[in-house]
Amino acid sequence: MLVILLLPLLAILAIASPLESRAPKYNVTAMNQALQRGSPILGSYSKCSGSLCSWMSKISDNTLVKDISIPGTHDTASWDYTLVKQLSFVKYTNLIYPAPLYRCGKTSIFQQLKDGNRAFDLRVGFAPNGKDLVFFHSEALLDLNARFDDVIQGFYRFLDENPTESLLISIKDENATWGSTEAIQQSVYTTLTSPVATSYVNPSTTIASTTLGSVRGKLTILRRFGLSNGQQLGIDLTNGFADNNPSFTLTNSQQEKFYIEDLYEPLADKTGLTPNVNLKLNVTTTNILAASSKVKGRKDGLFITYASSEQAYQLLTPQLMAEGLVVPGVNQGLKSWLTSGKGKGLKKKGVIFTDFASDVPGLVEAIIA
Ligand SMILES: *[C@@H]1O[C@H](CO)[C@@H](O)[C@H](O)[C@H]1NC(C)=O
Ligand SMILES: *[C@@H]1O[C@H](CO)[C@@H](O)[C@H](O)[C@H]1NC(C)=O
Ligand SMILES: *[C@@H]1O[C@H](CO)[C@@H](O)[C@H](O)[C@H]1NC(C)=O
Repeated sequence: MLVILLLPLLAILAIASPLESRAPKYNVTAMNQALQRGSPILGSYSKCSGSLCSWMSKISDNTLVKDISIPGTHDTASWDYTLVKQLSFVKYTNLIYPAPLYRCGKTSIFQQLKDGNRAFDLRVGFAPNGKDLVFFHSEALLDLNARFDDVIQGFYRFLDENPTESLLISIKDENATWGSTEAIQQSVYTTLTSPVATSYVNPSTTIASTTLGSVRGKLTILRRFGLSNGQQLGIDLTNGFADNNPSFTLTNSQQEKFYIEDLYEPLADKTGLTPNVNLKLNVTTTNILAASSKVKGRKDGLFITYASSEQAYQLLTPQLMAEGLVVPGVNQGLKSWLTSGKGKGLKKKGVIFTDFASDVPGLVEAIIA
């Protein structure tokens, strides 16, 4: 009898408790302001919907993060850097390369998340007011209003609503024209150690034994900027990040290894799109094969592959390199390698950053597979 009486109560509790646990960990007013101000880089907010919003829910908690195949976007914040935007900032930047040489995508960060990307490449510096931390790609100022802190709030929002997911956020101090490198670093540090950040930022400085279960709902920082003595934050990638290099290894202070391909200007021995695409595909697939193979002694580290590239003097933009023009680009080549070539069925492919993946449907899914 008692059980029968209690049943409706239990049912009510079962409905009520998930609602309660969903109470946001952030200040709602501040969040709405951040999403609004950050929208030129975040895109307009909408709740993630679709099957890829929770693809990590299918991976067991005890899987190591370094053993997951994780798609990401290279130069994440550059997706809306149009010629019009570039012209509006010319009083600050003077003449630089045409906008398409800096632009590495065409979908907003919220859309990139929706498409299944879980690694992001943020590059920051101070705006010309010397105060707001904003986004750059080399000398290209990407927006004046959307701040680093706003975009990080956007990631918190996504994680709150998609708690099975885990994000890797690479952060680089890109441009110190309007504020010192140290000031940039301290500004990033302040954002990522704020009271709200403690609910979302993975506090560990190591990755080799990090399980997915321990970082669901959290972001892990891949740190491409220095800190002051005594400060600790994220996974330190500052010790020897080689420039424009097809295969290098770096080690953090905990002796963990990182195996990285970042040949962004492939300079094939012949000029033209196809030779450069082929060279880029070669170094990209070589690193992915190494990530996935059981080569002894190399399984302790995290593999990071940048499938992104450009060749400024031949006017090969990131978009041309990624999606080709009449002839295929890196993305089509990578997708067919992963779905029907030597890359078919590979597991543990590591982190793979792409440009313009949204233009080659199925590429992100092929990386996750
Ligand atoms: C929430 O954020 C708003 C806007 O930044 C601020 O005015 C308010 O004091 C904050 N509330 C709390 C409880 O911190
Ligand atoms: C930073 O941006 C400014 C303005 O475009 C440019 O003059 C400067 O060369 C850039 N610095 C770097 C390191 O890219
Ligand atoms: C990359 O190119 C080298 C030299 O031509 C070749 O030996 C190697 O097999 C290629 N690797 C892949 C993964 O295509």
